[in-house]
Amino acid sequence: MKDFYQQFYTILAQTTAHAEFCARVFGRDLCQHGFADMAQLEKILEVTRIGPGQRALDLGCGNGLIAEYLSDCSGAHFTGLDYIPTAIEQARQRTAAKADRLAFQVGDINALDLPDHTFDLIVSIDTLYFSDDYALTLRQLRQALKPGGQMAIYFAHGRMPWEAKEDFPTETVQPDQNPLGEALKAAGMPFQTWDFTQDDYRLAQLRKEILAELRPRFEAEGLTFIYENRSGDANGVSGAVESGQHGRYLYLVRP
Ligand SMILES: C[S@@+](CC[C@H](N)C(=O)[O-])C[C@H]1O[C@@H](n2cnc3c(N)ncnc32)[C@H](O)[C@@H]1O
Repeated sequence: MKDFYQQFYTILAQTTAHAEFCARVFGRDLCQHGFADMAQLEKILEVTRIGPGQRALDLGCGNGLIAEYLSDCSGAHFTGLDYIPTAIEQARQRTAAKADRLAFQVGDINALDLPDHTFDLIVSIDTLYFSDDYALTLRQLRQALKPGGQMAIYFAHGRMPWEAKEDFPTETVQPDQNPLGEALKAAGMPFQTWDFTQDDYRLAQLRKEILAELRPRFEAEGLTFIYENRSGDANGVSGAVESGQHGRYLYLVRP
């Protein structure tokens, strides 16, 4: 997956089809490779009430456009962390004039080295899947929070396209029974959730429609690998929601 992301952030700096795709699907081009549209980002701001003078961490920030947006909207200081150095360098260069509110660092979710008791908020948008050990990652994130700090996590779980419907444990789409919910309960971290499953379905349908339209441009710009990746996730989410075997939630965790 690391090779995919290296190629993804490198080629997107010189092409336009994926930027148009993001603008049309998510409402604005923030180089999304997750599944959160602008309404889902607004929901983070609404439920966390993050504001000026506070510090946030965006775990798996890519090239930092989402962290920059959240900081611009809230006035909070955001640190973005991602394991792709090219993406972090792009973020640093683009936001050099906002260095009082934005910092970016190369780091691995599976080798976190965060300062203790530093952040009021940790945001994770479609990135906890990359943790090899949810219990360990959650403990490390909790340690990096200030007392009273919170986490806002978008997380989806569902049947993969190659899994037979009868083999998938349907109850695991519930927010307290998927791998994140189970890990939070085991860690004794209380959480509240909002259900975004139907939004995820609608956005997957839209991705399919817009991808079909933009396919010639993706191919002409050498983005076929991204086209295939995004088509795969849109088809996978659509099929799984239709069989009642996919759930997407915003988790607000107050450890
Ligand atoms: C699905 S994308 C989500 C990006 C962004 N949060 C969004 O919503 O568009 C996953 C991101 O996590 C990063 N990532 C994947 N594995 C990682 C790891 N082990 N450590 C740090 N970042 C990682 C990828 O480089 C990518 O930017």
